[in-house]
Amino acid sequence: MPGVKELAYVVYEASDLADWEHFAVDLLGMQLAGKDDDLLRLRTDAKVHRWLVRRGPADDLVASGYAVEDEAALDALADRLAAAGVPVADGGASLAATRGVDRILVTTDPIGNRVELVSGLADADTAFHSDRLLGGFVTGEGGAGHQVLIAKGVPREDYLAFYQGLLGFRISDTIVEEVAPGVVADLIFLHCNPRHHSVAFGDMPHPASTHHFMLEVADIRDVGTAHDRCLEAGQPFEMTLGMHPNDHMFSFYVRTPSGFSVEYGWGGLLIDDATWRVRTLDRLNNWGHLPPEVVADRLARAAGTDHGDHR
Ligand SMILES: [Fe+2]
Repeated sequence: MPGVKELAYVVYEASDLADWEHFAVDLLGMQLAGKDDDLLRLRTDAKVHRWLVRRGPADDLVASGYAVEDEAALDALADRLAAAGVPVADGGASLAATRGVDRILVTTDPIGNRVELVSGLADADTAFHSDRLLGGFVTGEGGAGHQVLIAKGVPREDYLAFYQGLLGFRISDTIVEEVAPGVVADLIFLHCNPRHHSVAFGDMPHPASTHHFMLEVADIRDVGTAHDRCLEAGQPFEMTLGMHPNDHMFSFYVRTPSGFSVEYGWGGLLIDDATWRVRTLDRLNNWGHLPPEVVADRLARAAGTDHGDHR
C-alpha cells in the first residue's frame, strides 16, 4: 500500500520569532534559510527548509507535512482518504509555493492536527551549512526527524485508523509506564521508513498539541556541544541526557521558546520491516532523561550543600 514515506517538514506558530531564530540557529545549529517579519524558514539538510516558524499566538505545532513518493502516490492517497470519508482538499499553488513542494493536499487527523500531504519538497540552491555543527543532521530516507503528539483523549483505534489504515504507517512499539502513582504514560510509536518512528502519540497532561520534535545529529559530539550551548544560554531543559529503550536515542530535551520541547539526539535505531517485531516496553528511559530539578537536587546532595529534608 503506497503511503507516506517521510515526515518532510513541520510548521509552528510562535509569538517570538527572534527568540526562535536564536534557539534554532545559535543553540541547535540549524541554518536560517530565510526570514521576514512573519516567517522563519529553517534548514537541517539539502532541502529548502524543514521547519517553518510563523508569527502567531498559538506557540504550537500548526501543520505537519508528510511526503509521498510522487504525484501518483499523492493521487492514490487522496482517493483512499476520500473513499474513507475523510475530507481532503487541494492546498493550491500558493500554499505549495510557501511550503516548497510541487503539490499539496490538506486534511485533518482524528485528533484535530492539520496534516499536509505533499510531493516534491524542493532542494535548496546551496549545500547545507551550520556554523555550529561538527557533523550534520541525520535526515535523508528517514525524513526530518520525529515528533510526539498529544492524543487529547481521542481513542487509539481512531487515530490508528487514519495513520496506519490510510497513511500507511506501521507500528514500531508501545511503551506503558506508571511514571507516578496512578499516572500511566502510554505511547505508541509509528514508522514509515527505517527511522524507528516518525510520529508517536500519547495521552499526557500537556498544554500544546506537540510534546517534542526530535532532531538527530550524525556526530555524538554535537549532542554534547548543543547541550553546552543550551546550558550556557540558560535555555530551560525538560530532561537532561538519557536514552530511550525503544529507539536507543541518546538525547536531551530542551524547551523551545514556545514551551514544547526539542529532543536533540544521536544514534537512533533503524527498523528493518522484514525482521522487526512489535513489542510493548515498560519504561520510557533506560537511564537519564531526568528533570533538571532532580539532577540539581542530587548534585546538591552529593556536594553536601543541600540542607533540605531529603532521605
Ligand atoms: Fe523523541
